[in-house]
Amino acid sequence: MTLELAGGGPVIDDKMITAYAPNITPAGEIAGWSDAELSRAIREGIRPDGTLIGPPMPFSLYKGLSDTDLAAIVAFLRTLKPIEHTVPKSVYNIPLPPAYGPPVTHVADIPRGPTAEYGAYIAGPIAHCLECHTPMGPQGPMYDGHLGQGGFEFPGPWGTSVSANLTSGDDGLKSFSDTQIADMITKGVKPDGTRMLPPMPYAWLAKMTPDDLQAVILYLRTLPPLPDYKG
Ligand code: HEC
Repeated sequence: MTLELAGGGPVIDDKMITAYAPNITPAGEIAGWSDAELSRAIREGIRPDGTLIGPPMPFSLYKGLSDTDLAAIVAFLRTLKPIEHTVPKSVYNIPLPPAYGPPVTHVADIPRGPTAEYGAYIAGPIAHCLECHTPMGPQGPMYDGHLGQGGFEFPGPWGTSVSANLTSGDDGLKSFSDTQIADMITKGVKPDGTRMLPPMPYAWLAKMTPDDLQAVILYLRTLPPLPDYKG
């Protein structure tokens, strides 16, 4: 915990990408960035020097962060204890796009409450459930036509875990009650008592408010049904 947010990795290490997460405490590179520059880096993936930040930062979701929430994240990062910790530069043996999309100038607040609309905001920009729970293609998560279908593989010390199908159909969450889904999200335990595998951040998700958790479940129930992803 002493190196929390001080960077580390590699968080991805394969033939195409060796990505290290940089130190984002005030002892790291971002200390010299203005709030506007830091906001742009988080939401648009562009550093002050104009270079693009690479995967696995989920910019296609973060571009939906509201101005208010983005400002809160920036304010929070400024309060961290500076930790001296240097990590190597990431290496991308794949071409990065020129940008992740058009500039994002303003994102309005999404009214907070136990609604599917707010759940979509949590499952996307805030908790990026959808990044892990959508199959990964060569250009990133295949949100078009495969949203929430699962099938993203995570190799690690635990073996290989595969993200689950969260859509509303038979292969997805249809047969689970709201309570069962809530327990899987916040406790990492399936209805039959089996413990679920990393890297889903169960302990963090357990800190969601009951209304936010309800919002996420309401939203998942609206995802168009899809069969399990077959590759
Ligand atoms: C870092 C990747 C990651 C993130 C982020 C993530 N998940 Fe998961 N999730 C997984 C993986 C991998 C599994 C499969 C675990 C296993 O097989 O034991 C899983 C399993 C689940 C399951 C179990 C479903 C079933 O049928 O077994 C539910 C429900 C779920 N996730 C919901 C969510 C929600 C909601 C969020 C956001 C609040 C979320 N996940 C965020 C990776 C992730």
